[in-house]
Amino acid sequence: ERVITVGLCGFGVVGQGVFNHLQKRENDLSDQLGARVKVTRIAVRDTSKKRDFDFDAAMLTTDPLSIATDPAVDVVCELMGGTTLAKEVTLAALKAGKIVVSANKALICDHGEALFAAAKEGNGQLLFEASVAGGIPVIKAIKESLVVNRFNSIYGILNGTSNYILTRMTNEGAGYQEILAEAKALGYAEADESFDVDGIDAAHKAVVLAYLAYGRWVPYNDLLVQGIAEVTQADIAFAKENGYAIKLLAVIDVAHASGKLYISILPTLVSKKYVLGSVDGVFNAVSVHGDVVGETVYIGPGAGRDATASAVISDIVDAAKLIVNGGAGRFIDPAPRGGAKIELAEPEEIES
Ligand code: NDP
Ligand code: HSE
Repeated sequence: ERVITVGLCGFGVVGQGVFNHLQKRENDLSDQLGARVKVTRIAVRDTSKKRDFDFDAAMLTTDPLSIATDPAVDVVCELMGGTTLAKEVTLAALKAGKIVVSANKALICDHGEALFAAAKEGNGQLLFEASVAGGIPVIKAIKESLVVNRFNSIYGILNGTSNYILTRMTNEGAGYQEILAEAKALGYAEADESFDVDGIDAAHKAVVLAYLAYGRWVPYNDLLVQGIAEVTQADIAFAKENGYAIKLLAVIDVAHASGKLYISILPTLVSKKYVLGSVDGVFNAVSVHGDVVGETVYIGPGAGRDATASAVISDIVDAAKLIVNGGAGRFIDPAPRGGAKIELAEPEEIES
């Protein structure tokens, strides 16, 4: 039986989740694929740290670049976070013609253009289902299931940590700092949690969605971004009394007045009668308005070990299918809709 080898760069919340579920479902996946998917190498910072699952310590290295360029590794998973080493590792693997699976929305937002260019040049693939909305398969929905559509707009709750905080502030009147500490302990928050509460993480994800839907990389500095740090109990009480919830809402839209694309991330009053108004806790929701299908809404866990592992493994399995069926080594553009035609709004146009 053919073995598809996977190198995990990162063995933290997400990396260990991927390892655990790949191992538990190894036989099921092998039945589906006609090939066995096996983790063969793992990169970490600290090899002496205690891990949550048993594994062969001989797989460990502190040099993720050695995995990226290892001819014996078929699929490289970048699950470290950050944008410096993560970029080096991803570029090295793509240039070597490998399939890279990434959960790193900051990396794709900041360097997506260069990474996809490298993938094209090196005949590699960059798959990134877990980078937006955790376990919700929204990237595949936009890329594949809704392929015939042009998109009028995409709205979403794209950060699990901030939705978890807002929900608990609303339901229990719990204190902001205390809930943030819990979200960190649960593995929901970014290494730098200001990315979650300041709207930066949601903004990264919105840039990725906008690229898929409109084929344009919107520069981060063109976004209007405000997080939840200034939301008070008084704001929440006002929203509740009037039938609303406060949600950190990402809006990717084409402005009616100018016809230009803009992205904003803002704490927003959302009616409790609208489905997104009742999406609580670590759940995310994405409402995608296609011109052929109409509105479709995707809801599910937006962060956490198992939910994110589910999305990463879906990409690993896609990679394995490409390898087994001889489709690897051919770049597939994730956003073939031809975005050059759409203009980007200036920041002042968004604010008005
Ligand atoms: P963690 O901090 O839990 O894990 C990061 C892992 O990367 C650790 O194993 C760490 O090693 C390793 N690592 C970091 N730097 C280096 C380095 N220089 N060399 C070698 N190994 C290194 O992060 P998460 O698992 O939570 O997140 C990983 C990625 O997934 C991030 O991009 C994040 O944004 C994204 N993501 C996270 C989600 C979540 O719910 N947590 C959901 C969706 C995406 P060591 O263990 O030794 O410190
Ligand atoms: N910190 C992120 C969140 C992880 O809370 O949504 C999922 O991308």
